[in-house]
Amino acid sequence: MANEQAIADYWATGDIYARIVAALAQASKSLDALTVQDLAPVDHFHARGLSATVELGDRLPIQAHHHILDIGCGLGGPARYFAHRFHCTVSGIDITQPFVEAANKLTHLLGMKDRVIIKHGDGHHLPYADGVFDGAYTQHVTMNVADRAQFFAEASRVLKPGAFFALTEHGLGPTGEPHYPVPWSEDGRGSYLVSPAETCALLEAAGFVEIVVEDTGAKYLAAYQQALDMAAQGALPPLGIHILMGETAPQKMRNAARNIAEGRTHPVQVVCRKPA
Ligand SMILES: C[S@@+](CC[C@H](N)C(=O)[O-])C[C@H]1O[C@@H](n2cnc3c(N)ncnc32)[C@H](O)[C@@H]1O
Repeated sequence: MANEQAIADYWATGDIYARIVAALAQASKSLDALTVQDLAPVDHFHARGLSATVELGDRLPIQAHHHILDIGCGLGGPARYFAHRFHCTVSGIDITQPFVEAANKLTHLLGMKDRVIIKHGDGHHLPYADGVFDGAYTQHVTMNVADRAQFFAEASRVLKPGAFFALTEHGLGPTGEPHYPVPWSEDGRGSYLVSPAETCALLEAAGFVEIVVEDTGAKYLAAYQQALDMAAQGALPPLGIHILMGETAPQKMRNAARNIAEGRTHPVQVVCRKPA
């Protein structure tokens, strides 16, 4: 539990919703007419933002009657995007209570409470019954997952036979440990990277089949470089994930780019399936 609390404290403390509302005001966005797209610069909490979630969605066989699980849903941007795009229901779970509180307020603002249900919890111990979900995904979460065998076993347990499971992450690259700080860890504490090959072996061991891995390194490198260029020009918009990343945000982005370029991290998107 101590480790889980440390990871949650790393990600967020305080009133995240108030911070987002202030940034929305600065961006001249009215809370009354807010859309899923308006929030996308801040509520898809990974360097490639909405475009990565859109690409993930392109790979997933989600249908309107489906109930999907988002493990490590953060502020709920991907969950609301999928609910909006596919007209499905999405449950989300996240270990960081301030994100869960902000996520539920944002969902309420968008009038989506009937289709997006977010609660506090740890992906190592999912608070759901066996075989209830038509699919599950975990976007940029597993870098912080200490026990992937347990995490993948839990995902498999709550999925229906034949359901999909997808993840995106920074895997460990071939050249060695990353430079810190990175977006998911200040100094290496709470960071548990494994290579894409090891992730696939662990997914197989958890019973998943038809594992398809896509290298997303070049796309992430380009995204970090674009953000760094904007920051250097003082052109970062008021609403963006930098408002969630703390004082070391510029170093985290520089290291994230450098780690990919030096082969220390290996970003991937993985889609697989629980056998029917
Ligand atoms: C980079 S953010 C990504 C958030 C969200 N998936 C997205 O794409 O916008 C990583 C998230 O993983 C969550 N997280 C880390 N370890 C977790 C765990 N064991 N169970 C649930 N959530 C976890 C963090 O609280 C944080 O919200």
